[in-house]
Amino acid sequence: MRALRGETTERPPIWLMRQAGRSDPAYRALRASTPLELEQLFRTPELAARISLMPQRWGVDALIIFSDILSPLAPMGAPFVFRPGPRLETPFAGPEDFETLREFDMAEEMPHIEETFRLLRRAAGAGIPLLGFAGAPLTLLAFLAEGGSPAPDLPRTRAFLGQYPGGARRVLEKLARMTVEYLNYQVAAGACAFQLFESCAHYFSRDEYLAFAVPAQQIIFDSLKGTAPGIFFARLADGHIPLEEMRASGADVFSIPSTYSIREAREIFGASTVLQGNLDNRLLALGSCDEIALAASACIESGGCRGHIFNLNHGILAGTPHENVAFLVEHVRQYRRTGAAAPNL
Ligand code: CP3
Repeated sequence: MRALRGETTERPPIWLMRQAGRSDPAYRALRASTPLELEQLFRTPELAARISLMPQRWGVDALIIFSDILSPLAPMGAPFVFRPGPRLETPFAGPEDFETLREFDMAEEMPHIEETFRLLRRAAGAGIPLLGFAGAPLTLLAFLAEGGSPAPDLPRTRAFLGQYPGGARRVLEKLARMTVEYLNYQVAAGACAFQLFESCAHYFSRDEYLAFAVPAQQIIFDSLKGTAPGIFFARLADGHIPLEEMRASGADVFSIPSTYSIREAREIFGASTVLQGNLDNRLLALGSCDEIALAASACIESGGCRGHIFNLNHGILAGTPHENVAFLVEHVRQYRRTGAAAPNL
């Protein structure tokens, strides 16, 4: 929490995106022991809290709730199933489909979220921050239009945005309002900070991103100002949107790709910006321990242990050896800043 506020720390805190699943044998064993489908697992507080807690044994400094960016779309009338990837029975097409998205009451439809946070706090103890999250509206819209994980050319999403730009803006605003309520609900339930995922950003042109993604992000970060720190993740690295466009979201903290060092990113965002990142997830998946240690230390040095939260460029890749994840967390935990404390941001 001090790093999120831009303060100097002995070492950067570390958490990882997708830390609650994928590479963890304990998670896979739990999945194998329950007949529940993933969408049911997300709605089962006792198991969701147990999964959220699992990365604590590696020594991560924050726990993210086990849920999915698509979860709040179910009570809006668009229930995704995971077989194994996300699937919507009938993908949305025209404005009349999007018009059917309902507003709903968080406490009535998502009580499992509050309960998961409650169980997680009780099990984790008081000292560790809990993280909430949500998907950004344009990313959610792309999942709705494509009916699952979007392919790079986004044919159905582009058709909708192109033919009904006004309707698309209304849908994005509706998704943004829902997301504000959803994140407020998570903060009230115990989230100490939250992350907004614009995971499909790299599929859009710069013009599309500025016209459709940014205004919806702004509603969310503006509305949550003063509640809990908001981290913004946008997958931009393999697209054509410059990194500095992330700033327009109005977030407090930016999670950055590996294409820039933390120091270089500070030149873009401003010296006092709090940044999260940015070890390459492919190095974590494929590198030796020596390579991981070298790259992690370089990343820490670059961040100067001031307003820097250690993380990856994106989520832990499927197939990443569990030992590599444990090694990375331990390496960051062992790091000690040398030299005089840098001034707080
Ligand atoms: O990767 C990102 O860009 C993060 C945003 C995102 C999440 N879910 C957050 C999440 C996206 C794009 C999704 C959609 C989704 N959900 C997909 C397709 C895209 C993708 O990246 O694979 C899939 C396969 C799912 C289903 C899902 N959600 C699984 C299988 C799991 C558990 C195991 C795993 O792979 O991590 C989740 C949990 C999940 N999705 C979390 C988050 C933040 C939980 C917390 C965490 O582990 O960090």
